[in-house]
Order: sequence, then C-alpha cells, then structure tokens
Amino acid sequence: MAYQFLLTRRDGPVERLTLNRPGVRNAFNEGMIEELTAWATATGADTSVRAVVIDGAGPTFSAGADLTWMARTIEYSEAENMADAERASRMFSAIDTLPVPVIGRIHGAALGGGAGLAAVCDVVVCEEHATFGFTEVKLGIIPAVISPFVLAKIGRSAARELFLTGRRFTAAHALDIGLAHTVVTASDLDQAVDAVLREVLASGREAVAAAKRLIADVWAAESSEQARALSAAALAARRVSAEGQEGLRAFLEKRKPGWSAS
Ligand code: COA
Repeated sequence: MAYQFLLTRRDGPVERLTLNRPGVRNAFNEGMIEELTAWATATGADTSVRAVVIDGAGPTFSAGADLTWMARTIEYSEAENMADAERASRMFSAIDTLPVPVIGRIHGAALGGGAGLAAVCDVVVCEEHATFGFTEVKLGIIPAVISPFVLAKIGRSAARELFLTGRRFTAAHALDIGLAHTVVTASDLDQAVDAVLREVLASGREAVAAAKRLIADVWAAESSEQARALSAAALAARRVSAEGQEGLRAFLEKRKPGWSAS
C-alpha cells in the first residue's frame, strides 16, 4: 500500500515503518493518523511479519500532534473533536495491540503524541541526546488519548510529575522511568535495534506473540483470581503447542529449534 506520510519497507520478517513528515518533525495530522491506523491493521493481519521497527525521517522522531492542524480544530464542534480524539486513540491502540514486538528507534525528540508512540512500543532504543516530553500542558491541553498507554508504561508517579510540569526530559530519565530500554550513541542506534531483532527472531514466533498477549491480559484482568486463571491457561496452551514442544526438545537435544532458521 502506498502512503503519503509514511515510508514502509519489508526486510525479511521485519516490517520497517518511518514516519515521513520531516518538514514538520513528523507531527501527526489527520492523514498520518489515518495511515498509521491502516498500516497497523494491515501489519497485524500479516502473518509473515515477526517484528516491527518504527523510526522517524529527518532530525527528529516525532514532535507529536501537528499544531497547525490542531489550531483548525478550534472551530470543530464538540462532537467533531470527540470523533477526532477517538481516531487518534484508535491509532495508538492499533499499534499497542500489534501481535508482534514493536521496536521504537528514537532520535532527536519524542514529544506529546511522539512520546505516546514510544509508550506503545515494546522496546524503545534511543539515542543518548534524544529528548522526551509530555508537553501538552504548555499548550493548555492535556496528554489525554495517550494517557492509558503512558500510565501503563511509566506508572502514576512519573506521570504525575511529567504530565503536570510538561517539562522536557532526557533519554537517561526515559530509561529511569521505563519509557526507554536502551540508550546508545547515535552511531550505535542501528546496531542496538539489530540486537533486539536478533533476540526476537531467535525466539519462538508464537511464544513471543503469546507473551505479548499475556502481559495485556494480566494487566486488564479484573481480579487476581482471573489473572491466575488466564496465566495458567496461557502456559498450558504453550506447553502443548508444537512450537513449545519443539523448543523444549531442541534444548534437551542440544540443537537449535526448527524455527531459528526461518
Ligand atoms: N506541529 C506542526 N509543526 C511543527 C511541530 C508540530 N508539533 N513541531 C515542529 N513543527 C514545525 C516548525 O513549526 C517548523 O516549521 P517551519 O520550518 O515552517 O518554521 C519545523 O517543524 C521545524 O521545527 P524546528 O523547531 O525549527 O525544528 P527543530 O529540529 O529545531 O526542533 C522540535 C524540533 C520537535 C524539538 C521542536 O520543533 C518543537 O519543540 N516542536 C513543538 C513540539 C510540541 O510542542 N508538540 C506538541 C505536543 S502536544
């Protein structure tokens, strides 16, 4: 599929997505939100994809909402604003629930929705000078649609400080609060992403997807009883699966599992 605001490239089992509005620092407008949702839906349904890498074209990962587009929403009715917010929320959710690992490759800045996009990545690798910020309050708005994903990622304490001050923060702080997982020099960024991809591709494809689903299901469980039940069922399903049995057998037979060549 051809996109106006995104670049996509398939690299074997890895789907690479580049936010591509460098002139406005990859800010999200209506069209980009629509394309990202369509891309996530198509990628999620493609069983040949085993991992996704998201990065940004130009000097910055993403400056968040497109403020020129947002200025136009001043004239929107409340219902139009609701529909707009719901579209953005659906986009973050579509990326958050992709059944494969999503790796964020972050350089420059990730602000507002850009930091929200980092929060829906499973693994965030960032360049040491990258800056982050939930800067919405500086514009008199709030980090609303990204909040469920950001809170799940960094917790209430960090969110209370960062949402309420809107201050920009360093890659080192992103690492401290769990928004980033690896911080490297700009020249090591691709190598660090490749290291994550190697780990993922050496693991059982179904197991990786099941692990991601397990985290979401346990997080959303209504009681500890339900969490226990669903986690036990998930483990049992893996143990009886062909992939689970092949993984254990390969270990015992001191050989690589069948999937490691694919
Ligand atoms: N929406 C629309 N346009 C944006 C934008 C945004 N969120 N962020 C940057 N741009 C535009 C600038 O207006 C500028 O346009 P121009 O070339 O027509 O003047 C262009 O992108 C480059 O911006 P500039 O600030 O010169 O780039 P930079 O590389 O020095 O800095 C940022 C990049 C992201 C750090 C900086 O642009 C910034 O802080 N942007 C605002 C981020 C923000 O508040 N986001 C909203 C969160 S709710």
